[in-house]
Amino acid sequence: MSHAPAMPHAPAVHTSAPADSLALTLRERTAEAHTRAERHPQQGRLVKGLCTRHDYAAWLGQMLPIWAAVDEGVSALAAKDARVRAMHRDYHPHADRIRADLRHLGQPAPAALPATARFESLVLSLAASPAIIGVWYVLEGSSNGGRYIARAVSRALNLPGPEGLRGLDPHGEAQHERWGRWKADLDAQRWTPAERDAIIHAATQTFDHIYDMLGDIESARPVSAS
Ligand code: HEM
Repeated sequence: MSHAPAMPHAPAVHTSAPADSLALTLRERTAEAHTRAERHPQQGRLVKGLCTRHDYAAWLGQMLPIWAAVDEGVSALAAKDARVRAMHRDYHPHADRIRADLRHLGQPAPAALPATARFESLVLSLAASPAIIGVWYVLEGSSNGGRYIARAVSRALNLPGPEGLRGLDPHGEAQHERWGRWKADLDAQRWTPAERDAIIHAATQTFDHIYDMLGDIESARPVSAS
């Protein structure tokens, strides 16, 4: 992935990936979109440790309905598709961590902004098909950078963690190993060409929706938070 200078280090290379690795294709096809998202001012404030409690809670709060829909969609699909079942681990469901973080911050879950509602509709519409794996890829993959962001947010908000930071850093020291396993598990399954295309398309759509959501969060930012 050609990452921006803001990246703390280059993404781990998926060394044992097969030649037709879907995991590698996903990374390549979303590299530009990743750079665009990580350079968004809203993410920049989090990464640089310049965020307010409001900025952080706004990000968590908008991600909550998306994660809830992904958790539910992936679990439902795992129940009927052995390939997804083989990928799904008990540490994957994520919405409860975000709920706990918001509680720890003393922030109620905010109403969904318009871009969040559109994003949630997309996830719900994909929930019955393997395409939702494209969304899951982006969200689960974001915990790689989330580890670094958690440290910056911890400093900015005087939050020692792990309480309040589990949404950003769900796996702690196991991050690298669990992400490697997610990609290896994805590549161990057989996907039809149509399924691969649908997964890749959903991943690029997900980045677009996240970018729009970041824009809505930015527009809704109170003047007093700047
Ligand atoms: C909306 C925001 C973001 C999303 C959706 C996102 C998504 C992702 C995804 C899907 C991956 C996995 C790439 C792969 O291995 O296939 C990833 C990796 C990574 N991201 Fe982000 N990211 C976001 C923001 C950031 C930011 C702000 C940073 C800067 C700290 C960052 C740093 C990283 C790093 C360092 C990796 C690679 C980690 C590794 O492989 O060891 N990300 N991100």
